Amino acid sequence: MRIVVGVGGGIAAYKACSLVRKFTETGHDVRVIPTESALQFVGKATFEALSGNRVDTGVFADVPEVPHVRIGQAADLVVIAPATADLMARSAMGRADDLLTATLLTARCPVLFAPAMHTEMWEHPATVANVATLRSHGAIVMEPASGRLTGADTGPGRLPEPEEIFALASLLLERADAVPRDLEGRRLVVSAGGTREPLDPVRFLGNRSSGKQGYAMARVAAQRGAQVTLIAGNTVGLEPPAAVEVVQVTTAEQMGIAVDKHAVGADAVIMAAAVADFRPTNVAAAKIKKGAAEPDSIKLTKNRDILAGLVQARKDGRLPDLAIVGFAAETGDEQGDVLTYARAKLERKGCDLLVVNAVGEGKAFEVDNNDGWLLGADGTEQALDHGSKALLASRVLDALGPLLR
Ligand SMILES: Cc1cc2nc3c(=O)[nH]c(=O)nc-3n(C[C@H](O)[C@H](O)[C@H](O)COP(=O)(O)O)c2cc1C
Repeated sequence: MRIVVGVGGGIAAYKACSLVRKFTETGHDVRVIPTESALQFVGKATFEALSGNRVDTGVFADVPEVPHVRIGQAADLVVIAPATADLMARSAMGRADDLLTATLLTARCPVLFAPAMHTEMWEHPATVANVATLRSHGAIVMEPASGRLTGADTGPGRLPEPEEIFALASLLLERADAVPRDLEGRRLVVSAGGTREPLDPVRFLGNRSSGKQGYAMARVAAQRGAQVTLIAGNTVGLEPPAAVEVVQVTTAEQMGIAVDKHAVGADAVIMAAAVADFRPTNVAAAKIKKGAAEPDSIKLTKNRDILAGLVQARKDGRLPDLAIVGFAAETGDEQGDVLTYARAKLERKGCDLLVVNAVGEGKAFEVDNNDGWLLGADGTEQALDHGSKALLASRVLDALGPLLR
């Protein structure tokens, strides 16, 4: 695919280098268009070497090729990282005073802005209005991350990490309409990752969940405008998604407490975490030693079912307006296939939607791609085509939208 990476004149311009690299490494043809100010931060040669294509900032270079029109027309995706306050203002006004803004006017493909600026600039009414204008033109303006800004300041306005911009950009290449602003004003709770049930101070019973699907769900929901709380168990060192509140837990018990707490006032809970069904009944205070008193078995106690608890709370009128999404990682056996077990699970659990993944060799766990089925309490069944975990998340959020009260 042909990707234009536009770079504004912000301190985070150096992170655009990693982004360009990710796109070229995944086989895309990348054209970098920095602004003149961007070249104050990163040299033209760096972008030319990383992309393998020439780099210009103005419309008067290479005139016979009419690049200010051609590049935009031919692009499959335009990603602006970092998008400065000034660059977004110019683009929102429809200015075409350099090659990048001219390209933004001629592009008819998805356009993704990844803003980066100080919190004051991000929250200024002028920037807020420019972001709204860009969104009304169909552009996707990412929510920035919160954290350390230039100097000692912290707050919202930090450039989302290149991995995150890459994930969202890849999603837009899979599905151009995957990130509408349809969840503004909604509060979502998403659980992710596997729980760890301690046996002694150094050992635990765990599972193979990486957290990638739940993180993708939280990320896409936040970029669709929702206020998201992510209850995260053990994950494979994933970066917290931008504009998402992350609550870290370890055990199933802790996850249950955190989900119950944050479900109050939420519009939906999406339980993507792999919560342990059982925990060791006895947790040794000291490390279990090899030798005379070697244990030959582990006694297990059943954990409470968090999803069933939410459904019960809704029935009791404690969480009357909550929409509930469950996940089922299933394998088939002689008694039935994956879908048979999943239908029974949906019936038993009483949630609104059930995302079903077939697990086994190289499927669902740890990998970056996923597929499955989406079962609705109303009897609907939708195949979720193979694609990124962000793509699966976007399909689930499409189905969840109409269920929100
Ligand atoms: C050290 C330094 C860091 C800057 N960082 C940012 C930034 O992160 N975001 C931003 O909007 N402007 C930032 N600016 C201001 C922009 O460089 C300035 O507004 C410029 O006109 C933006 O040009 P552009 O439209 O080419 O991006 C910074 C300026 C300096 C000197």
